[in-house]
Amino acid sequence: SSKYSFEYNEKYRLLYHFTPQYGWMNDPNGMVYADGTYHLFYQYNPYGARWGNMHWGHAISKDLVNWQYQPTAIAPDKLGAIFSGSAVIDHDNTAGFGKGAMIAIFTSAGDRQTQSIAYSLDGGKTFTKYEGNPVLSDANIIDFRDPKVFWHAPSKQWVMSLATTQTITFYGSKNLKEWTRLSEFGEGLGAHSGVWECPDLFPLTYEGKTKWVLFVSINPGGPNGGSATQYFIGDFDGKTFTPDAMNYPLWLDYGRDNYAGVTWSNVPAADGRRLFIGWMSNWDYANEIPTVNFRSAMTVARTLRLAHNGEHLIVASEPVKELESLRREPLSLADKTTFDTVTFENFLPNNQGAYELTFTVTPNDTDSFSFSIENAKGEVLTYLFDIANKTLSVDRTKSSVAFNANFAEMLVKAPLTAKKSYTVRLLVDKASTELFVNNGEVVQTNTVFPSEVYNTLRFKTEKGTLNLNDITVYKLK
Ligand code: FRU
Repeated sequence: SSKYSFEYNEKYRLLYHFTPQYGWMNDPNGMVYADGTYHLFYQYNPYGARWGNMHWGHAISKDLVNWQYQPTAIAPDKLGAIFSGSAVIDHDNTAGFGKGAMIAIFTSAGDRQTQSIAYSLDGGKTFTKYEGNPVLSDANIIDFRDPKVFWHAPSKQWVMSLATTQTITFYGSKNLKEWTRLSEFGEGLGAHSGVWECPDLFPLTYEGKTKWVLFVSINPGGPNGGSATQYFIGDFDGKTFTPDAMNYPLWLDYGRDNYAGVTWSNVPAADGRRLFIGWMSNWDYANEIPTVNFRSAMTVARTLRLAHNGEHLIVASEPVKELESLRREPLSLADKTTFDTVTFENFLPNNQGAYELTFTVTPNDTDSFSFSIENAKGEVLTYLFDIANKTLSVDRTKSSVAFNANFAEMLVKAPLTAKKSYTVRLLVDKASTELFVNNGEVVQTNTVFPSEVYNTLRFKTEKGTLNLNDITVYKLK
């Protein structure tokens, strides 16, 4: 190998999640489906593995699982760096760039933050910036960014959700070039201890009824510190988003590492899914994670749906079904009943760190139980189901090598509704863990940096018994 070659295959390079080949990545941007291809653009620094010089990187996929690197799509210009935004397909040529043009709408971050557009007539390979940029500016608002645009058929206009300091402002346009302010949402509602970023407004149905969901990422001020994504459920009439009366904030993912996620546009109605991907990191420590030539990964692509948690509507999320194509032969560990502890050592032969664990737990006469994945170095990641306190806590304090004081300091907590049984699905990929309980009603995404792979699985209960059913492990990839 030449002395100029990079170690692309470094220790914490995930095996089945999207990571940039070289350089820094943060938010997913401009996700759009066109002609059988899913596009993923992303905040990208091609010159180094820390934040800066923001471009839009680009990758494509046929199945939301296997991604192909593409040339960098959009580079900074005299208006500034290219911050987060979205992409649409202009089927009716409303903007005049061509029928079916792919149009990116993004923030130009210079002295001021303004919104700009660029179009592609070759399916996202190359983009031309509109000469009339910026298309939207405001003399007074400093944090003015992350445009997410969709076509709202009933009002025959494009609608943009824009993060405006600590509110979301909606704008409407007939042509993506001239924008009119429609309304502003969020004052006094939800979490407000940080700046609002990366909104997304989209419909989901529940029992045949359409509701509108508004995602708002916030940093800092997440439920477990640092960055996280809150959401609101309500109605949208083409002008105003009216939230249902609920106990806000609600959080999409209580883990520390799912931020700035938004959904794909232009997914065919025949598919009907609302597809999501998030940035699997946290601004608390993102620039310091112990990788060298690249930094950060995306979550697995997920399907969103409305569900009822027994108390109110929530947005549940689960891995897309395509992910199951990565599963090797299922390995059945056991059906077991335990009074205190059950341990599976070396649960996966030839464990490369990429696997999926699924099982169902039925607790009897106990207020809490836990399971953990561990390695021979004494590193351990524990999931504690504290039923009495309606909390699902993740303890990663002893999970990883030390690299940043903010990383492993406290328990990562999510609310847990008491149920007869809990179905658990855990995706592990070298340096990431994504936990989905009860079909994605409770989600915890947390990065980990163990010095070797976890290959012991341990269940524990202090009293009563646990029925453990269908404990299955799949090697992935
Ligand atoms: C969110 C964010 C966005 C911004 C981008 C810059 O993580 O701060 O608000 O557009 O990152 O890279």
